[in-house]
Amino acid sequence: MYSTSYMSLNDAIDWTSIAAVGPTAQDLLIGGKRVPAISGRYFETLDPATEQVIARVAEADAADIDLAVRSARQAFDGEWGRMRPSERGQALLRWADLIRRNAEELVELESLNSGKPVASIRRQDLPAVLDTLTYYAGWADKISGQVIPTRSDALTYTVREAVGVVGAIVPWNFPLMIGMWKIAPALACGCTVVLKPAELTPLTALRLGELALEAGIPAGVLNVVPGFGKTAGAALVNHPDVDKVTFTGSPNVGRTILQSAAVNFKRVTLELGGKSANIIFPDANLEQAVKAACAGIFFNSGQVCSAGSRILVHQDIYNEFLEKFAARASTMRIGDPRDESTAMGPLVSAAQMNRVLEYVAVGVNEGARLVTGGTRHGKSGYFVKPTIFADVKHEMRIAQEEIFGPVAVVIPFKDEEDALRIANGTSYSLAAGVWSADMGRIHRFTRSLKAGTIWVNTYGPTDVRLPWGGNRESGFGREHGEAAIDNFTEPKVVWIHTGPPTQNASAAPLN
Ligand code: NAI
Ligand code: MG
Repeated sequence: MYSTSYMSLNDAIDWTSIAAVGPTAQDLLIGGKRVPAISGRYFETLDPATEQVIARVAEADAADIDLAVRSARQAFDGEWGRMRPSERGQALLRWADLIRRNAEELVELESLNSGKPVASIRRQDLPAVLDTLTYYAGWADKISGQVIPTRSDALTYTVREAVGVVGAIVPWNFPLMIGMWKIAPALACGCTVVLKPAELTPLTALRLGELALEAGIPAGVLNVVPGFGKTAGAALVNHPDVDKVTFTGSPNVGRTILQSAAVNFKRVTLELGGKSANIIFPDANLEQAVKAACAGIFFNSGQVCSAGSRILVHQDIYNEFLEKFAARASTMRIGDPRDESTAMGPLVSAAQMNRVLEYVAVGVNEGARLVTGGTRHGKSGYFVKPTIFADVKHEMRIAQEEIFGPVAVVIPFKDEEDALRIANGTSYSLAAGVWSADMGRIHRFTRSLKAGTIWVNTYGPTDVRLPWGGNRESGFGREHGEAAIDNFTEPKVVWIHTGPPTQNASAAPLN
């Protein structure tokens, strides 16, 4: 079905001795074929745990993006767009089956390219990928319009049509999972996709694309074009034949995307991260709160849009919390992501590690108290120790800016009003957590916290059935659930005159 002039990742990469095999070349996936970039350029991609080059990846720029968009348009106008919805759902289910059968390869490849621990990819990312895909496969034949009664001489109804070609731009913190959050609902609706993975983590996206072809999803329905943001990403956002852009990443790029999308009034969904507050009251179960606070900030080395990066603790339990929190953080196993018992791997890149270490210096200069961590772990690989700052003031940069690393800031508060003021006092509003046994207080907080998701007596779980997203610098629009179906479809109204021709509504003045 696609070009055989390349080796699949399976054959090309020997996991146990990358060095012996040497970096492999990975081409773009456009129109069902693996093709080099038109420019002939390749860029290197690394294993962040060892800093070794693991593959050379074809570098898409505007010319390749144009080709990918054309092929997506062709697929949309062709077989995919015309396929029976139930068949589309079946194709997605076959894809899910193939992902399941190739799960171990995907887990290892994701770990190798992103530094994420295999254990957490197996437990979290891969199951979420499959859940997302099967959930939206189920939607494919359940996307219906409505008959909406208006007047006696007319039959008026809506149908929901796919918006067309979707540009999906994804980050490196959850390459498979966030990729699937965008692809699955888009394809279920009958859209076609040009996926631009992050330049740091392009490998699993290419493999996903191959598996889609193998599952019988037609050529051109899912194109995968690794490349850099300023070239490939910008070309996708500026392309006049892309109908919708869905993006997860930084607020600055989100802003640029929003401006560029004006070129042809593209629909845009933006998920831009946060500085989420995790608020702990004295009547909470402290053991549970400590455990969840730890996972909330150190999971995926803190490279999580909804990380509980600001921990707000009532002054009466502040010291006790800090002691328990620091003790737990210091027992976290940091190291080789391929070791089953590793809980924390490296950060994704040298740039990200340096950015995090710079924030540690900023925190120290601002007068926050460094309780633990704050330095690199080991000499190679981009590891940073779990880091905790105490006595942090709300106004400090480390309390206001997204660090996107394993750095917790712990802020004391004195009462509900104080906690709310601090919690709502950043430019983000993606998520928040509140820990208490008092139902009245819980409801006051779920009502008053500015966040797209509020966790009560837990922190961090997500489910594809629930709308996900934020506002202000966290972006806008929602992914997941039925919200994503709305993102990739547009209602069309049909008005059928059913009265006698002499009283045709069209002859009547509007309204
Ligand atoms: P980024 O926003 O630059 O990268 C995310 C994606 O956007 C990548 O695929 C990149 O190639 C693409 N991109 C970059 N510039 C673009 C442009 N002009 N047009 C179109 N696409 C473009 O994020 P970066 O620089 O890797 O990380 C910086 C910070 O952003 C992180 O420290 C973190 O605070 C935040 N971030 C938030 C994420 C989230 O999950 N909400 C994910 C990644 C980063
Ligand atoms: Mg960037």
